Amino acid sequence: MKKILVHDIYRNCNLVNQYITLSGWIRNRRHSKSGISFIDIYDGSCAHTIQGIINKNICNYKSEVLKLTNGCSISIEGMIIYSIGKYQKYEIQVHKIKIIGLVESPHNYPISSKKHTYEYLRLIPHLRPRTNFIGVITRIRNGMFNAIHRFLQSKHYCWIPTPIITTLDSEGAGSMFRVSAELNEQCDNKLNQSKYLKKDFFGKETFLTVSGQLTAESYACAMTKVYTFGPTFRAENSNTTRHLAEFWMLEVERSFCNLGDIIQLSYDIIKYVIQYILQNNILDIEFIYSNIDKNIFHRLENFLHSPIIQIEYIDAIKILLKSKKKFRYKITHGTDLSSEHEKYLVNNYFHSPVFIKNYPKNLKAFYMKLNKDCNTVAAMDFLVPNVGEIIGGSEREDCQKLLEKRILELHLNKIDYSWYIDLRRYGSVPHAGFGLGFERLISYITGVQNVKDLIPFPRTVNHALC
Ligand code: 4AD
Ligand code: MG
Repeated sequence: MKKILVHDIYRNCNLVNQYITLSGWIRNRRHSKSGISFIDIYDGSCAHTIQGIINKNICNYKSEVLKLTNGCSISIEGMIIYSIGKYQKYEIQVHKIKIIGLVESPHNYPISSKKHTYEYLRLIPHLRPRTNFIGVITRIRNGMFNAIHRFLQSKHYCWIPTPIITTLDSEGAGSMFRVSAELNEQCDNKLNQSKYLKKDFFGKETFLTVSGQLTAESYACAMTKVYTFGPTFRAENSNTTRHLAEFWMLEVERSFCNLGDIIQLSYDIIKYVIQYILQNNILDIEFIYSNIDKNIFHRLENFLHSPIIQIEYIDAIKILLKSKKKFRYKITHGTDLSSEHEKYLVNNYFHSPVFIKNYPKNLKAFYMKLNKDCNTVAAMDFLVPNVGEIIGGSEREDCQKLLEKRILELHLNKIDYSWYIDLRRYGSVPHAGFGLGFERLISYITGVQNVKDLIPFPRTVNHALC
């Protein structure tokens, strides 16, 4: 007998009147007084459940079927039919049912058929995949991941798994988690520390990476078009809806290109991802439309059909200075945009995603290419409504002298960066790249505001369950 998944039924009408076998978990069940049980089964393959109809005539009806509760795992055999009920298109007339796992003390089963709050679900990350909400998000995330690889592979970008354990602070921001196998926590002064570090696993201090960019650059400066896509770690104490201590970042790096090229490329990637999701995850998107965000289709269609908006940093500041809005943090020429400023620009002024480019060099990382004006760098941030920044990127300083100057100005240790400087010493080329925060993109696409609900096991300040 054909083993199928729930999504096969909804994608393939030819299954009507066929005998099949299907396994999954019970989301809801109702045992009617007339001796018929209705069970809604899910298996994670799509946003719909399939209803199984079980008649009291089957042999284990009293002994087993009546004991079934939400969350039990089962395997059924039966025929797929068109449903006469108005809530579902198909159902399964069950001929045989095998109980695989019962739920111990059903009253205490943490996932009831009620709607749970996101906050509650975050406390049970091992069980929340059983909710339809997390199932939907998980499939969308998977589709987006797939779409990104498909797009970049089709354009001949080579995937580079850059290291997770690193010796460098590639953003120069200093909020890194330290990796250590042997480091003695007792040593509190610098002298002792270097003595103990020699005994450490790597013989030097190492960290979890905040970005794979610098090592990706070394491959871009040989393979031309590369990307890295993996977990990224930041130890910043930011307890917001857009920060995770462990998040996923796509970083694309390309030689022989400039800021305009990477702006276009990053926009094209997001367009492709949206198109892919609309084609391949439509049931999930419809679930979001019905239950979470009525604006989802409008937002996604708009993105596909609107031109790119790009403005200079200096013009963004002018807009903010002219606005009548009272900001908590005062804005002046040369200050960094905080999230309230970014949100004003995209939510209230442009009502649309926007690239802001050419920031003052003092606001950005050491590796960004100095513009001819010697004050700004060829950098861009991509901001979207309700989320804020989802991409940061730039041309890279390809002039050895200027890069060394910047490293010294920022009091970074030049020796640590000597291999990175080498890339400018031996056949340097203009190159540029960007990093896209994957959970923030999922947040923009789905309209789910908190990135903690968009990664399977969120890690944030004071929160690392499982
Ligand atoms: O702007 P960021 O810090 O840029 C870099 O790391 C560059 N090295 C990227 C590159 O050019 N290759 O980070 C890039 C993106 C941000 O725009 C944001 O979307 C996301 O990463 N991000 C975070 N997402 C979730 N939680 C955090 N704590 C994040 N920090 C950054
Ligand atoms: Mg940034």
